[in-house]
Amino acid sequence: MCGIFAYTGTKDCREMLVNGLRMLEYRGYDSAGIMALSEESDIFLEKAVGRVSALASKVDEKKWDSIKYTTWIAHTRWATHGGVTVENTHPHISTNERFYVVHNGIIENYKELKKSLSEKYSFYSQTDTEVVAKLVESLYDGNLKSTMEKVVAKLVGAYSLAVVDSENPGEIVGIKLWSPLIVGKSNDWVYISSDINALSNLAESFSILEDNEMVVIENGDYSIFMSWKKVERDAEAVQEGQKIDELGDFTSYTEKEIFDIPAVLENVWSGRIDFKNKSIHNETLDALSDLDIERICIISSGSSYYAGEIWNYFFRKFSWIQASAIISSEFLSDVFIPDSKTLYIFLSQSGETADVRESMKIVKAKRCMTFWIVNVVGSTIARMADLGLYSHAWVEVGVASTKNVIAQIWVLLMMSISLWLKKDLQISDAREIISELSRLPDKISQALMQGPHIKKLAKKYSVYNDMFVLGRNYFYPVAGEASLKIKELSYIHSESYSAGELKHGPLALVSETFPTIVFNPMGKFYAKTISNIQEVSARKGPILGFISSNDTHKELYTDTIELPETSELLSVFTGLVSSYLFALYLAEALERDVDKPRNLAKSVTVE
Ligand code: G6P
Repeated sequence: MCGIFAYTGTKDCREMLVNGLRMLEYRGYDSAGIMALSEESDIFLEKAVGRVSALASKVDEKKWDSIKYTTWIAHTRWATHGGVTVENTHPHISTNERFYVVHNGIIENYKELKKSLSEKYSFYSQTDTEVVAKLVESLYDGNLKSTMEKVVAKLVGAYSLAVVDSENPGEIVGIKLWSPLIVGKSNDWVYISSDINALSNLAESFSILEDNEMVVIENGDYSIFMSWKKVERDAEAVQEGQKIDELGDFTSYTEKEIFDIPAVLENVWSGRIDFKNKSIHNETLDALSDLDIERICIISSGSSYYAGEIWNYFFRKFSWIQASAIISSEFLSDVFIPDSKTLYIFLSQSGETADVRESMKIVKAKRCMTFWIVNVVGSTIARMADLGLYSHAWVEVGVASTKNVIAQIWVLLMMSISLWLKKDLQISDAREIISELSRLPDKISQALMQGPHIKKLAKKYSVYNDMFVLGRNYFYPVAGEASLKIKELSYIHSESYSAGELKHGPLALVSETFPTIVFNPMGKFYAKTISNIQEVSARKGPILGFISSNDTHKELYTDTIELPETSELLSVFTGLVSSYLFALYLAEALERDVDKPRNLAKSVTVE
């Protein structure tokens, strides 16, 4: 949801800027802009609607003369206030053209501020950010740091800001509240970024800013302040797992990330599960089992919501603890009745999703038990509570989440098994599940080998405009996640239903041109789902089944994707992974930009 990248250095390094911005592009890609400043206060400003590549071409075309620029701020935008236009693209500028601002977040009181500032300044954009640029000018007291303190005192909302005073080259001021901001350093370079991705291949160390902290870059170094007091904090070293991998032979990060899933699983359990002794070793999970938990409520959005729902079906089957999953924006829209016996789990790949973050604030304010499961190390949600686990899926670049969903379900399963073992309940079940799970990476690798077959089918199904995706029990949320992936990646209209629910209305839409995708591996509800498939078949609807190889009703399906032979539990994972390939190949057949689907962003920092 908007990416900020800024740096100062002794050399002019415009390539670094474009590359850094590319690494943040998954946060928003409606438009991008940069501002560069030389030691002599020469200004270079360029903006372009569309991808960072559009900005890069404009930058390349420019005649740069011999001016050496050493202070840079850049932004990639996901439009919230105002359309996708050059005027609304950051950096935004004060009326006197002295101050340049890039922003991630939402200034909720921008209308009131704009109204009062309008008496003195004219506005060229519809953005909330331009208001900040005008505020900087109106409150400027000769010192950018103290001015920014005054500016943020007037702002209501969430923001991370980077500001440059064009009369003071070499200095950048950053400040944040609820939106993320990171400062990194390597030799002579100092960087500010929305997240670690832009820095991981550049900086040697980094510090994550806390809310209300200000970072000041000057003289090739940086200092962090909180209410004018200097904050002493050791910088963290950039780790290997925080670096973005090369694409290699893959055509997109989404494809690479799906094929990474077996390795991700091994990473998730490494040092946490002892398969030999069928036990789990983890301090955090031990601490969790000491709590008096009677209920669990998972709060999340998008794919993370479906991960929560899938786990919920597992959990209900094996546990004495009641569990539920709720969409975070719905949690925010409802009345919260605090329950001291409920563990509230916040599930998020990015660790930045505003609806999840705001839900967590409400739960924390009532002193209820909170736990996070997040992928991005050091992200906002991961720093809001002590207890939590990383999903350890490594950097996920594709906007549509894939490998992280599998990792999230895994961490949740690990948590449940640990609770069962510690509470001495369902021990045999729990140990059985552990040994079964050890086979999962192999089974997923087998599912991935079906890639060429799935690709052919995806091409065939890419001609349809609409699809239903059905499943029962575990496969109901799996159908939801598969349908979301189809929408996100291919833009084909798809809706998921519980297989038994189709006859209560949606069946009216089934026809020869409206296919139905069904998850129906052998299991408890196989026969019932077969009845539902017959209902579709009787209406001549094409049917694509994700099924077991020993399915006895293969003739009912128009096409099939056979899942590797496993238990029902593992087929949830193999089914999900196969559906990811199907959605990916649908999108490829339709020539979509799979890593950056239109209108979306990976890190959604607005409510
Ligand atoms: C965005 C992404 C989705 C993601 C959702 C939740 O909408 O496009 O792919 O599932 O956010 O993100 P989170 O980071 O909280 O898991």
